[in-house]
Parts: sequence; structure tokens; C-alpha cells
Amino acid sequence: MSQLKPSLQPLEIVVLAAGVGTRMRSNQAKVMLNLAGKPMLAHVLSMAAALAPIRIHIVYGHKGEQLSAAFPDPKLNWIAQTEQLGTGHAVRCVISHLEPKSKVLILYGDVPALRIEDVAPLVEQCDKKDVIGVLLANLEAPKGYGRAVVAQGRVTKIVEEKLATVEELAITLVNTGLICTQSVDLARWVNQLDRNNLQNEYLLTDIFAMAARESQPAYFQICEPAWRAFGANDASQLVELERKMQLDCAYTLLAKGVRLADPNRIDIRGMLTTGMDVEIDANVVFEGEVSLADDVKIGPFNRIKNCNLAAGTIVHAHCDLEGVVSHGACEIGPFARLRPGTVLQQGSKVGNFVECKNAQVGASTKISHLSYIGDAVLGSGVNIGAGTITCNYDGVNKHLTHIGDDVFVGSNTSLIAPLKIGSGATIGAGSVLTSSAGANQLTLSRAPQKTISGWTRPDKKS
Ligand code: UD1
Ligand code: CA
Repeated sequence: MSQLKPSLQPLEIVVLAAGVGTRMRSNQAKVMLNLAGKPMLAHVLSMAAALAPIRIHIVYGHKGEQLSAAFPDPKLNWIAQTEQLGTGHAVRCVISHLEPKSKVLILYGDVPALRIEDVAPLVEQCDKKDVIGVLLANLEAPKGYGRAVVAQGRVTKIVEEKLATVEELAITLVNTGLICTQSVDLARWVNQLDRNNLQNEYLLTDIFAMAARESQPAYFQICEPAWRAFGANDASQLVELERKMQLDCAYTLLAKGVRLADPNRIDIRGMLTTGMDVEIDANVVFEGEVSLADDVKIGPFNRIKNCNLAAGTIVHAHCDLEGVVSHGACEIGPFARLRPGTVLQQGSKVGNFVECKNAQVGASTKISHLSYIGDAVLGSGVNIGAGTITCNYDGVNKHLTHIGDDVFVGSNTSLIAPLKIGSGATIGAGSVLTSSAGANQLTLSRAPQKTISGWTRPDKKS
């Protein structure tokens, strides 16, 4: 990540996040809606923090309590905009909080995909001579965006779509909302804004014409690729941005040599780190922090959250994994549900319709079908038969099951915890174990089988 070059002038960042978000038709604050697994505002704030400003001011309004609760960082300065009278009014609410000698970067909370490298050069250029700069984007379909009027290499005006002339509407160079300027100049311009326009709003973008009138027309830079400057005003723009971001992540993985079945059918909602020769089939969703070591293979239709899978681990189709750690090549699925605290050792196998939770599975241990293993420690070389249940919950408390090395548990066994099974023990199929079973012995609890001779089926009543 490219950092901002050192500057003598302090930087303050203003994030506008008070808009009502009517077009989103949501009960949540617009900037709290998720993009690639985290709120739009989280993306903007992490980019802002990477610029190392002296302060980040956030203008909030609609559902403000939701916002500050989600971002409890004491370094953030929350400023209320009680009435949403436009972006110019929002910035006006911040002016008294700004240092007179700082430069100010304005970010929009609903423009979440910009990266530090899109922003840093614009901030670096802003100084006492170039007092205002703006990031523009060249969009084939500029609908909805403010159009930038450029003369002699400078922006002389930004006109909102609703107020634009036919000629201005044809301009494809648009305002991304990202502005860098000097604190004193910003204060002067913003205080002159009025809302005598068709939108009846204080339009921040009107400051560009003011600057031009003061013979200080804005410098500009162009965001490339343009999609990173997209704003998300409604659900369709949000999903468009999501798809662009996901495709970008997919191509980053491909560039690292990860073999994806289809770059359009992978979702990364967090951080995914990968080793060499990783293969990922179609329709896999990664959430939180996931790490896949060399030669890991992920089958189709999996959700994998906060997992750390060791080299050679194979996840077959249709699994849901959360908080799983494998320490060596293991086999998971198809159709396994592994919950937090599942730790798999080298060579272990957790097969179809098996649920594990807070379970340590030893080396070469196999739980191949239809089992629930919760709050359990399994040694190595254990074989768990189909339909084995660790009855870990007595309705009030959870209890542990310990299973030693080389134990064989027959099918359809209920292990009523707390319980220990000694190494080498065999548990007969169909048993309900209520107390511990000794090592190297056969233990079973099973009603004796009986045959009643001479018994006949009842006749059907006439
Ligand atoms: C704005 C720009 C437009 C630009 C586009 C880029 C203005 C007047 N227009 O239009 O030129 O092309 O962004 O995406 O600035 N907000 C407040 N308080 C308010 C109103 C808005 O904090 O009173 C916040 C919103 O939460 C949002 C941001 O400001 O994060 C932008 O507001 P929005 O209404 O989305 O502006 P656009 O119509 O997208
Ligand atoms: Ca917007």
C-alpha cells in the first residue's frame, strides 16, 4: 500500500455520512450497508486511517447512534448534522472543528471502494498554491453524478445532474466527491453557500465555481480504474460495486496463481491468504480471515469463515466451516458443518452430515458419516461410526467427552458426557454410554436380542 509522502501541513479528514439514503429504501443507515462483508463506512474509515490524519471527523445524522456504536474508536470525532440540508451544509457543520492551518480531505461515506493510491496524489498536490483539488472519474454512463466543467486543465465548475444544461449532461467527466483543500478556504466558501437552487440544498459542489471566481480553479486527477470511484446510492449501484470489487479480488488471486474455477463465482468478504497451487471451485464464499496453505483444494458450494487450513487439506462440496483449524492434510465433507473450535490433525477425516463444535480430532481419526461431535477431545486413529452423538448438553451445562487413541465407536452410539473412553477401547454399536469405558475392552449397553417363536402378526379387523 502506497503511503502519503510526509508533509509539514497537518491533514484532517471529513467523512460525510449523514445522508438519509432514501434511494436505498432501507431501515439501516446507508453507510452501514455491507460491501464485501463490511459496512461501506468501514471501508472509507480504513482508507482514511491509512492516510494518517491528525483527526477524522464524521458527519452523522440519520441513525447516528448505529454508526457511532459500530465504530467505537475514541479518535473519531462524531459531528451531528440534525437536518440533512445537503453536502455543503454537512461540511459547514464541521468547520468550527477544523484547525485553520490544516488541509482537509473530504470523503463521502457512500463512495467506499477508493484506495489510498487513488487518493494520496491528490492530497499531496494540495498546498498554498493549489488550494483545491478534486478526484474525477471518466464514466461511460455518468448518470446521477455531478459533471465537471474543465477549462484550461482546471475544474471551473461542478454541476449537479438535476441542474445541468443539455451540453453539461453530455460531459462524462464526473465528480467522485473526493475533495482536498485548505481549511481556511473551505470555511470561506462553505459559509457563502445558499440553497437557492432546484434541489433546495446546500451543494458542496458549488464551491468549485467560487474558487474559480477567486482565480483559484481546482486541479484534478482522474481515478483509474473508474469503478473504484462509484457511489452506492441504491441497491443496484451497491451490487454493481460489489461485483466489481469481487472480480478485482478474483483477478488478484489469479495473478498469484490460485486456480479459480470461475472468477465470477467466488466471494471474498474479508481477507483471504493463499499458498501455492491452491484450487477453488465455483460458488465459494469466504468470510472474515481465511488462510489456505499450499495445495489446499476447496470444492464447490462452500462457506468458509475464519479458518486456517494447512497444506494439502481438501474440502469437498457443500460444507459450512467456521473457526476451523487443520494442522496437516485433512479431508472435510462433502456436507460437513464444522463450527468454531474444531481442530483437525494430520490425516483426519470428517465426512458427510457430520457436525463438530469445540472438538479436537486427532491424527488419522475418522468421523465419516452422520455424527455430532461437540465439546470433545479425540485421540489419534479413532474410528467414529455413523450416527454417533456426543450428548454434551444436559439442558443446563455442557460436558466434555474424551476419547483415547485407537478407539472404535460402533454406529448409532450415544456418549452421555462427561465421559472418558480409554485407548484401544471398542464400543458396541447401538450403545448408550452413561459412564466411562475402560481401555482395550469391549463395552456395550444394548438390550439383549430375543426371538419369540410361534408369534403371528395380528389379522386386519374385518
Ligand atoms: C454527490 C455529489 C455529486 C457526485 C456524487 C459522487 C454533491 C452535491 N453531489 O451526489 O457531485 O458526483 O456525490 O458519488 O455533493 N450527506 C450528508 N449530509 C447531507 C447530504 C449528504 O452527510 O445533508 C452525505 C451522504 O451520506 C453521502 C454523501 O454526503 O455519504 C453524498 O451525498 P449524496 O446524497 O449521496 O450525494 P449524490 O447525489 O450521490
Ligand atoms: Ca452518493
